[in-house]
Amino acid sequence: MTTLDLILRNAVLPDGRTGLDIGVKDGRIAALERSLPASARREIDVGGCLVSPPFVDAHFHMDSTLSLGQPRLNQSGTLLEGIALWGELKPHLTQAALVERALRYCDWAVGRGLLAIRSHVDICDPRLLAVEALLQVKRTVAPYLDLQLVAFPQDGYLRSPDAVALLDRALEMGVDVVGGIPHFERTMADGADSVRRLCALATERGALVDMHCDESDDPLSRHVETLAAETVRHGLHGRVTGSHLTSMHSMDNYYASKLLDLMAEAQLNVVANPLINITLQGRHDTYPKRRGMTRVKEQMARGLTVAFGQDCVMDPWYPLGSGDMLDVAAMGLHVAQMTGVAEIGACFQAVTANAARILQLERYGLDIGCHADLVVLQASDPAEAIRLRATRLYVLRRGRIVAQAPKAEATLDLPGRATTTVDWRL
Ligand code: FE2
Repeated sequence: MTTLDLILRNAVLPDGRTGLDIGVKDGRIAALERSLPASARREIDVGGCLVSPPFVDAHFHMDSTLSLGQPRLNQSGTLLEGIALWGELKPHLTQAALVERALRYCDWAVGRGLLAIRSHVDICDPRLLAVEALLQVKRTVAPYLDLQLVAFPQDGYLRSPDAVALLDRALEMGVDVVGGIPHFERTMADGADSVRRLCALATERGALVDMHCDESDDPLSRHVETLAAETVRHGLHGRVTGSHLTSMHSMDNYYASKLLDLMAEAQLNVVANPLINITLQGRHDTYPKRRGMTRVKEQMARGLTVAFGQDCVMDPWYPLGSGDMLDVAAMGLHVAQMTGVAEIGACFQAVTANAARILQLERYGLDIGCHADLVVLQASDPAEAIRLRATRLYVLRRGRIVAQAPKAEATLDLPGRATTTVDWRL
């Protein structure tokens, strides 16, 4: 009989399979079956709780996270005041402060079962301080969290002086992914030019691409079209991600249907950021106000890989958040009106498996041979996990418990009734 390192008994999986035992050996999933006839140094009966691969955030800004109030609060709450505020803070950043905030956020993330993050890092700073800091953080957290970095020209690749050279330098220093922000360039033509140049650069370097693209309410913003066309032209199918794509919300339906075909041809990945999109878009509207999130339901139906990202936590753009991807999934589900049975499952995938596919994480999932990176949730299924923002009872990285939390429950002592315990599960 094989001796395993750990067995999680009586698990429910996100695909609906129940009563499964998960055996872990040498940091990998070594067995997955009912009534696993093996012993282990440690066994945990998870009692019918959901066991999922870890949460993955496909879109984040770790250089600005937890900087809320520095140097002042965003009074209007708008995207443009947020960008201006970040510009005010940038010259005063120190590497030590950047590293400290990022590490603190990574601790929050691990506690929430969030073990892989793609973070954009602003390269429009001649010192490239944030790049250096996040590369250091990436090395520090590697034993417990995968941090993937995107070279992001926040002030415009062509609009910001030296951004072309700075982006090259960031890639040389070890940043993984080519970023962009075409809608922030001076003109639509400059935006399209930036997309062409950045896709060519990524092709040359064999890098993935992830651009902030069409993050506006302008129904005529067309950079996602250029991004998809350049993806096809360079043969970058499946390697390119359009983040935000909020203009698609406002586009003419006929044009959007043609665009979806092109996106499918390019196998373009999509990241919507529901918490940020619902708060920052539609700000020029009176009533009715647009929701401003991209067409998630239609993109999923077209076979595109769609993830939900957190984007911001306690920074110039967003004063809330805590690294909880279930909160992100809940908001995405509501904004996209995805309350159908399969749709709720798809929203859970948007913060787990879909995001992992976009990051091209290796050995992610629940198959034998995958990394034993697992989250035990106090919930019976993905819908309940989202509804309750379920407690992460155990978080495992490479088979080792890296975080645990007590069950969320309350003891009721009501007049005329026996003392009872409530845990909010159905
Ligand atoms: Fe972003």
